[in-house]
This record gives sequence, C-alpha cells and structure tokens, in this order.
Amino acid sequence: MSTATEQPTYNYKVVRQFAIMTVVWGIVGMAVGVLIAAQLVWPALNFDTAWLSFGRLRPLHTNAVIFAFGGSALFATSYYVVQRTCQVRLFSDTLASFTFWGWQLIIVLAAISLPLGMTSGKEYAELEWPIDILIAVVWVAYAINFLATVKIRKTSHIYVANWFYAAFILTVAILHIVNSAALPVSMTKSYSAYAGAIDAMAQWWYGHNAVGFFLTAGFLGMMYYFVPKQAERPVYSYRLSIVHFWALICTYMWAGPHHLHYTALPDWTQSLGMIMSLILLAPSWGGMINGMMTLSGAWHKLRNDPILRFLVVSLSFYGMSTFEGPMMAIKTVNALSHYTDWTIGHVHAGALGWVAMISIGATYHLIPRVFGKEAMYSSNLINVHFWLSTIGTVLYIAAMWVNGILQGLMWRAVNADGTLTYSFVEALEASHPGFFVRWMGGAFWVLGMLLMAYNVFMTVRSAEAKPVAQTA
Ligand code: HEM
Ligand code: HEM
Repeated sequence: MSTATEQPTYNYKVVRQFAIMTVVWGIVGMAVGVLIAAQLVWPALNFDTAWLSFGRLRPLHTNAVIFAFGGSALFATSYYVVQRTCQVRLFSDTLASFTFWGWQLIIVLAAISLPLGMTSGKEYAELEWPIDILIAVVWVAYAINFLATVKIRKTSHIYVANWFYAAFILTVAILHIVNSAALPVSMTKSYSAYAGAIDAMAQWWYGHNAVGFFLTAGFLGMMYYFVPKQAERPVYSYRLSIVHFWALICTYMWAGPHHLHYTALPDWTQSLGMIMSLILLAPSWGGMINGMMTLSGAWHKLRNDPILRFLVVSLSFYGMSTFEGPMMAIKTVNALSHYTDWTIGHVHAGALGWVAMISIGATYHLIPRVFGKEAMYSSNLINVHFWLSTIGTVLYIAAMWVNGILQGLMWRAVNADGTLTYSFVEALEASHPGFFVRWMGGAFWVLGMLLMAYNVFMTVRSAEAKPVAQTA
C-alpha cells in the first residue's frame, strides 16, 4: 500500500481488506447461487458428481453469501464506522488482523468441507465442530476489539449505529456457541447436544436470530451510518432510533417458532412465535421509516446519485420483506407457504433486496474514502449495477411468488374422493418456468457484481489521490 493512503489515526487497512473481500465473496457466493438455480432448471448440471450436486452446493451458497459476503461487509463497515464515530483508532491492530485472516481461513475451510459432504445437518450452522471452535475464537476477538474501541472513544455518546453493531456481535456469539454444542465422534463428525423437539427449537432459535441479528441488526447499523452520510442529512429521528433498537432486539428473540409451525413443538410455543412475529412488524417498519425519512429534503439527490439509490431501494426491500415475514408467520398462511418457493422468494427479498443492496451501497461509499481517492472510477457503472440488481431481485422474487402459491395450491388440491389431484412431479413441472426466470434474475446479479469488481479495481488503481478524511 502506498504511503499516500496510510492512516495516521485510523486503522483503514483492515477496512480495505474486508471491503475487497466483500466484492470477491459476493461474486463467488452468488455465482454458486446461479449454478444451483441452473441445476433446478437443467438437472444434468449436477454432472453426476457428488461434490457438484445440489445438496452439497446449496449450503456452500448459503454460507458463502451470508457469512463470507455479508460477514465481510459487516466487518468492513463496523470497523470503519466505530472508528469514525468514536473518533479513535481501533483498540488493537493485531486483533483486527487476526479477525481478518481468521475469518478468511474459516471461509476457505467451509468451501472445502461442505462440497466434501461434511455437515452437522443444521441449516446455516452446517460447519463441523473444529471449524465451529475457530469461529467462536475469531468472533470473541472481534467482540473484544469492537467493544474496547467503543470503550476508549473520544466522543461522549455512543452513536446508534454502534448499538446495532454491538447487539449483532454479542448475540451472534451467544447463538453460535449455544446452537453448536455437540458431541464429536471424529474430527469430521459430531452430533447435536440436544435431542428431538428441543434440538429443533434450539436450531430455529438460532436460525431466526441469525436472520434477526446477522442479516438485520448489523445491516441496520450500516443503515444508520451510511444513509445519513450519503444523503448528507442527519438521521430523521434519534429518539425513534433508540425505540427502534430496544423494540427490535427484545422482540426478535421470541419469533423463532414460526419456522416450526405444525410440528412436534408444543402448540402454545408456535402461537407465541406467530404473535411475536406480528409484533415485529412495528419495530421493523419504525427503522425502515427512520431510514427513509432521513432523505427528507434530499430526495432530489436520487436523480444523480446511484449509491443513494442502492441504499434507499434496500430500505424498500427491507420494508417489503418485514411485511411479508409476519404475514407468513400466521399459521394459516404458513400452511400454504411452508416448503414452497414462497419462502425462497421471501428469503431473497431480504437477502438480495435488503442485505446485498445496502452492503453494496455502503461499499461504494467507503472504497474511495479508505483508498484515498476522490470518488469511484465510474458513476455510470454504479448506475448500471443498480439497475441490474433491482431488476434481478424483482425477477427472482416475482418468479418465486408465482411458483410458491402454485406449488402450495397444487399440493393441497384434493378430488371429491379424497385422493390428491396432482402428483408431486406435476407441481415440479409447473414450477419450471419460474425456476428459469429466477436463474435469469441471478445472472443479472452476478453480472452487476462483476461490473462492481471492475469499478473497484479501476478506482483502487487510479493515480488520482486525496488525503483520507479523518472526521466522522
Ligand atoms: C419482521 C420480520 C420477519 C419475519 C416475521 C419473518 C418471518 C419468516 C417466516 C414466517 C418464514 C417462513 C418459515 C417457514 O415456513 O419455514 C421466514 C423464513 C425466512 N426468512 Fe424471514 N421474516 C422476517 C424478515 C426477514 C428478513 C429481513 C430476512 C433476510 C434478511 C429473512 C430471512 C429469512 C430466511 C433466510 C428464511 C428461511 C429460513 C429457512 O427455512 O431456511 N426474514 N421468515
Ligand atoms: C445471484 C444471486 C442468488 C441466486 C441466484 C441465489 C439462488 C439460490 C437458490 C437456487 C437457492 C436454493 C433454493 C431451493 O432450495 O429451492 C438459494 C437458497 C438460499 N439463498 Fe440464495 N441466491 C442468490 C443470492 C443470495 C444472497 C445474496 C443471499 C444472502 C445474503 C442468499 C441467501 C440464501 C439463503 C438463506 C437460502 C436458503 C433459503 C431457505 O432454506 O429457505 N442468496 N439461493
């Protein structure tokens, strides 16, 4: 790294490293997504090879996009935001570097072990016990570094973005450690410490809060810093942000049972999960509205600022998926949606529309700043990327709505004599056009990510430089 970009005060090296890896893992994870989407259209793409089969590549996709892409974006932005809003360098450069290399090692181990078929069988927690231990160690180092930086801050208050990041870091540590408790029987195989319905509940307490804290709270931290920064307006309501924080974190914890409707879980637990999910609509929309209203007086900026477009459209998808989620948590609606592509559509409205779009907006914002450049190499390319992502997301989720409702209705249709009207294969055949449209939507996304990689490369390489700002 040239000395022109070296920071006298802040540690931007780790931010640069994680920001670049956000783009790299975004491309890898989404390319695997496109491959598995293609396998559902053209099953021959499994190539009769175990490690290329859908069942092994699916968890590779989910781990790569959530933990490698989303995780790198969260590390990059949290390290950037905590330094700038606390006006102090990271507590420890050694810990920062340890978290970067440790996290990359975990990702590589996941990319090797999952295609080999090593799995604990718990969704979003598939990695086997030695990797789980490594995750716990790296995560604790992250927690120490982040919280200690907040502790040594030079500002009097703790900016709300840091509250969200801190809640995300602490909760993920607890979720991971509790849900991964297992009895190892060899280096590559272990069995859950829990049994039966308790195991299922522990898993979905983890799974839902992974959505709530990994895929939501951390990204809300991102929203509270990058939306006001890019719009050059203060947060609409600081008071609302505090209410939003406490309401969100207190409600999320209880909603997990909506993943286990009509199972062996006690009925009252399922009803509690449903009610808490409906309540969750309020804090979710409180946060979304707070982000949107931050643009008051700055809406005109959307006309020529594609980075702001990424950020604002991500908020609309956040609003949409947090309306859809509570509806799907209603037991009678879930009776139709569960097991169908509707769930997959909901997941990607949140994952692509919200998580990926806000991460990309934030990355475009910080790349020139941490590399000491005036701006991104090409604003036009960001604009093309924005449209590819938006159209790609809409294609994906619209296809899954159609498929989901179609599957749900075909599976439950019965003849007068009580026999099923359609066989499973008939419903699968009817889903084929939707699978194709979803694959196209994914291809749009990957194309956009490749443009981003080119744009970032040209920005980093460009000779033009400016001193890196050290203010919040
Ligand atoms: C108020 C907020 C939300 C509620 C109440 C909610 C509710 C739900 C419900 C009822 C399901 C279907 C469970 C099933 O039938 O198996 C589901 C699945 C899922 N949701 Fe949400 N959702 C919310 C927001 C989000 C957001 C913002 C994201 C992503 C960023 C997301 C990611 C997921 C994922 C990954 C699954 C699939 C889990 C699985 O079965 O593997 N959700 N959600
Ligand atoms: C190019 C973009 C993407 C494509 C084409 C894609 C495609 C897919 C496909 C085909 C599946 C399996 C669906 C099934 O089993 O029927 C899937 C599952 C999943 N994807 Fe993606 N994906 C993309 C991006 C993302 C991103 C960015 C995230 C998260 C940040 C994500 C999170 C997930 C999750 C959590 C699941 C599991 C859902 C569940 O079990 O209910 N995907 N994806």
